Amino acid sequence: MASTALVTGAGSGIGRGLALALARRGYHILAVGRDLARLQAVAHEIEQISSAAVFSADLAEAQPRARFIEEVLERFGPPDLLVNNAALRPAGDFLTQSIEEIDRAFTLNLVVPALLARQLCPLPGGAAPLSGVTVPLPRGILFVISTAARFPQPYTSLYSASKSGLRMLGECLQVELAGRTRVCLVYPPLTATPMTEQARMGGRILRIANAATVAERIITRYEAGQDEITWRDWEVIPSLLYRLAPAFMRWLLKKRRAQLKNLLIPPGAQPE
Ligand SMILES: NC(=O)c1ccc[n+]([C@@H]2O[C@H](COP(=O)([O-])OP(=O)(O)OC[C@H]3O[C@@H](n4cnc5c(N)ncnc54)[C@H](OP(=O)(O)O)[C@@H]3O)[C@@H](O)[C@H]2O)c1
Repeated sequence: MASTALVTGAGSGIGRGLALALARRGYHILAVGRDLARLQAVAHEIEQISSAAVFSADLAEAQPRARFIEEVLERFGPPDLLVNNAALRPAGDFLTQSIEEIDRAFTLNLVVPALLARQLCPLPGGAAPLSGVTVPLPRGILFVISTAARFPQPYTSLYSASKSGLRMLGECLQVELAGRTRVCLVYPPLTATPMTEQARMGGRILRIANAATVAERIITRYEAGQDEITWRDWEVIPSLLYRLAPAFMRWLLKKRRAQLKNLLIPPGAQPE
């Protein structure tokens, strides 16, 4: 039987690319997101090369998420590979963001990957009591993080903070699950996807990667045994600076606050 890969946010961008790259390697893809039409379009592409099942679920909401997990376990059992990819990147002044926006960003970007990893992993030494289903360990978990976890990114603070939490979760699990489940952390470069569309429309970004190329490279490197997948791009500089001199980096960010705000908040979205 083919290995299964569960990909969250498989209907667009990097998630779509990852689903297709895994399908090319023979995985049966379990694709989840909210937009059923987009997921079905991806499933149609996948079915030219492998097989797929689609699940329309808002993972940030407890009930649809619980129903989705139960259905996956009942129909397919735990996936061999869990790809935690779905995320939101709300941009804006922290004080203008709604309570709901804050809640959804942390839930989707941080809580959901933790819940999926936990609910698809058994207790040490045996089965997990999940709906009476005996759950073997997934062979791998891929966390799609971001360089926003490597240095503070004001005006996308919810994204930066939730991705930093995800990074720590992944690094802890790399230790806790060592020898049982492979945990791979991915830091994609700036990539052309719906998530970055608004910023690109402002024409302020010069260099941007292609989602299919990024996804193919992630899976190639995962297959080659890499458990931390990074890119050598401009974001290496602020990441390194923050690691070596965090106080200086914070000073610099404050000094450049106005430019930063202009760059990160889409035109027209800035309250006066
Ligand atoms: N693009 C970049 O430059 C970049 C750089 C570094 C890291 N990343 C990371 O790469 C990953 C993919 O992002 P992307 O750039 O490919 O953006 P994207 O195309 O907007 O992908 C986000 C996916 O998340 C899904 N999603 C959003 N809310 C959801 C919810 N409540 N429940 C279920 N699914 C939900 C969306 O599908 P539906 O709308 O159908 O729900 C969508 O397919 C993210 O983790 C992002 O942080 C991106």
